[in-house]
Amino acid sequence: MTSQDSLLQEQIAYYRARAGEYDEWFLRQGRYDRGEEANARWFAEVRTVATVLDDFAPTGDVLELACGTGLWTQRLARYATTLTALDSSPETLEVNKRRLAGATHIRYEVADLFAWRPEKRYDVVFFSFWLSHVPPDRFEPFFQSVAASLAPGGRIFFIDSLYTQTSTARDHVLTEPDATTMTRRLNDGREFQVVKVFYEPAELESRLRTLGWNTAVQTTGEFFLYGSGEHRSGERAP
Ligand SMILES: C[S@@+](CC[C@H](N)C(=O)[O-])C[C@H]1O[C@@H](n2cnc3c(N)ncnc32)[C@H](O)[C@@H]1O
Repeated sequence: MTSQDSLLQEQIAYYRARAGEYDEWFLRQGRYDRGEEANARWFAEVRTVATVLDDFAPTGDVLELACGTGLWTQRLARYATTLTALDSSPETLEVNKRRLAGATHIRYEVADLFAWRPEKRYDVVFFSFWLSHVPPDRFEPFFQSVAASLAPGGRIFFIDSLYTQTSTARDHVLTEPDATTMTRRLNDGREFQVVKVFYEPAELESRLRTLGWNTAVQTTGEFFLYGSGEHRSGERAP
């Protein structure tokens, strides 16, 4: 096993162990509570991305990669005809299933995205807070597998973190903006190494263009970047 393989296994283990406390990050609770003002800015920016996603309207057969506890699955589910939600953590998928209880158009699958290959094609592929956990040398293969998952005319939508100290827990230290790993801690103090790569929107957009993607990548200001678009190979014939 290479050192990168063990890092990716540690990343999987971290999110499995974190399943029950994962939402504290999104809800700005406990170690992620950054005070009233910063929390208010965070929630305002979440609303901005949610509105952009509503405008994008993820309809048809939708694939959500690294779906987590369902914070965005619940929004996708409003639009999708069918929704396939993948994650490597069974514990996390259990939280997601509870959140989406009663939704009969969602299929869950435990999958390691670095080994996974699409079995069918989708109208929309969505991934939030996942791209930053893909090691730099797996960026291209990852986007190749996304392109291979898209039906003709298919679209992608992604959300991720901007480099902002107050985004993460009070006891997490963001290393330099160009670092690719960081130490994460659970509430019980256990520590894990994970991949964390931050992107500049313009640079990400241009990198994707060289790989055949037409995407627009924007930010909400302080906390998030988001992008949407399609791959040129998937353009419908006129
Ligand atoms: C930062 S969370 C994002 C979850 C969700 N998309 C969200 O926005 O809240 C990263 C997710 O990636 C999952 N994950 C980590 N390594 C993975 C892998 N190799 N394959 C699939 N999922 C993985 C974790 O279990 C976790 O749910």
